[in-house]
Amino acid sequence: MNTRMRRAAFAVAAGAMAVSLAACGSAKESGGGSKSSSPKKGDAIKVGLLLPENQTARYEKFDRPLIEKKVKELTNGKGEVVYANAKQDATTQNQQVDSMVTNKVDVLIVDAVDAAAIKNSVQKAKDAGIPVVAYDRLAQGPIDAYTSFDNETVGKTQGEALLKALGSKAKSGKIVMMNGSSTDPNAAQFKAGAHKVLDGKVNVGKEYDTKEWKPENANSNMEGAISALGKKNIIGVYSANDGMAGGIITALKAAGISNIPVTGQDAELAGVQRIVAGEQYMSVYKPYAPEAAAAAEMAVDLAQGKSLDAVAKDKVDSPTTKQVPSVLVPVTALTKDNIKDTVIKDGVYTVADICTAQYKAACAKIGLK
Ligand code: BGC
Repeated sequence: MNTRMRRAAFAVAAGAMAVSLAACGSAKESGGGSKSSSPKKGDAIKVGLLLPENQTARYEKFDRPLIEKKVKELTNGKGEVVYANAKQDATTQNQQVDSMVTNKVDVLIVDAVDAAAIKNSVQKAKDAGIPVVAYDRLAQGPIDAYTSFDNETVGKTQGEALLKALGSKAKSGKIVMMNGSSTDPNAAQFKAGAHKVLDGKVNVGKEYDTKEWKPENANSNMEGAISALGKKNIIGVYSANDGMAGGIITALKAAGISNIPVTGQDAELAGVQRIVAGEQYMSVYKPYAPEAAAAAEMAVDLAQGKSLDAVAKDKVDSPTTKQVPSVLVPVTALTKDNIKDTVIKDGVYTVADICTAQYKAACAKIGLK
């Protein structure tokens, strides 16, 4: 977490000062200048949840069920989550916001496909008196709250791990950098963090922004990099997430390249299994439960007209909106050495989930049982 965020943590935004008036039918929403006239709600609230894609495992496997569960918990089982996945299409996502506004949800949680393209939809929701929580990606427009990880630190963590794996050989060849989608502000932060650590310490042979974060696009970019650089000259790959690392490793194997470090992010089951097998060097473990819980808590509080002060200890600026009350969750580098202390300890996976027949021997070798 940076100092700017820390310093601003106590600068309370007007939007966070709404007092709880659950029983009062005439209270006005104050978040971000919204002009809601809807009465403050009790537990029977409708939370609109919009996620950006369904190729990366996290969204359907973790984010969605965790948010649904937490909303239920916080509303004595009476709150309802209305869900839509945009499957990487920003236009679809704008339409999904429209229909949720028509559907009169009480609050929206939005993980934007394209942080700039969602701006007008955020404004429309606000104009209809519906507060908006930006989830994981910092959507532009008048959002009321934001939760994510410290995304520049994610990039630094990946870069540091890659340097550690390369050791004294860091400049003995070229690395390839496979960044995420240019419509995702997180991708820019991962990239910036990684560059801060890697620049001057490695030679970057090829670098790509990967359209829509798609593993198949990472796969074809990697094939391009291999033919441009020559397979003997590539000593490591910075991959921004596990999904793309899968596509990259397939391309490396097809070219007969093995034993070079490849980074990742998300601690996806397939990624963790590749780490066990020695095909992928690391991932970044981002605990989704606290991120999902923060989103659910802030959404329920906003819908019920309560202050966010107890939950949102940070402030973040977006290109359009300053001092957004935020929750930023810390991350951990995951390698074969700390699988037990991270994803297993937190109950994300069991040893049995990871150590299937195909990975039994590799698991035994690293003492995972
Ligand atoms: C998320 C990552 C995810 C990527 C692709 C990013 O915004 O923070 O966890 O792998 O999007 O969906």
